[in-house]
Amino acid sequence: MKALVVYESMFGNTEQVARAVAAGLREVLEVTVREVSDTPIGAVQDVDLVVAGGPTHASR
Ligand SMILES: Cc1cc2nc3c(=O)[nH]c(=O)nc-3n(C[C@H](O)[C@H](O)[C@H](O)COP(=O)(O)O)c2cc1C
Repeated sequence: MKALVVYESMFGNTEQVARAVAAGLREVLEVTVREVSDTPIGAVQDVDLVVAGGPTHASR
């Protein structure tokens, strides 16, 4: 099975979390990590699991 971990990160904290999540998932899945602006729309169609993460900005 395949997983995609996609993240947005301004200062690098969310990227570190995304890479840690990916490292854990790699124990059981084939994992790709992508920055959101570098992720083609179709990328989610090829995977069984999508993990999406972004920083909280202005309470959202
Ligand atoms: C413009 C701006 C607004 C933010 N607003 C919030 C917020 O509403 N709540 C919160 O908990 N953190 C807020 N933060 C803190 C960020 O979520 C935090 O620094 C986060 O770790 C940044 O992630 P990044 O390093 O992946 O960019 C804000 C940061 C910025 C720069």
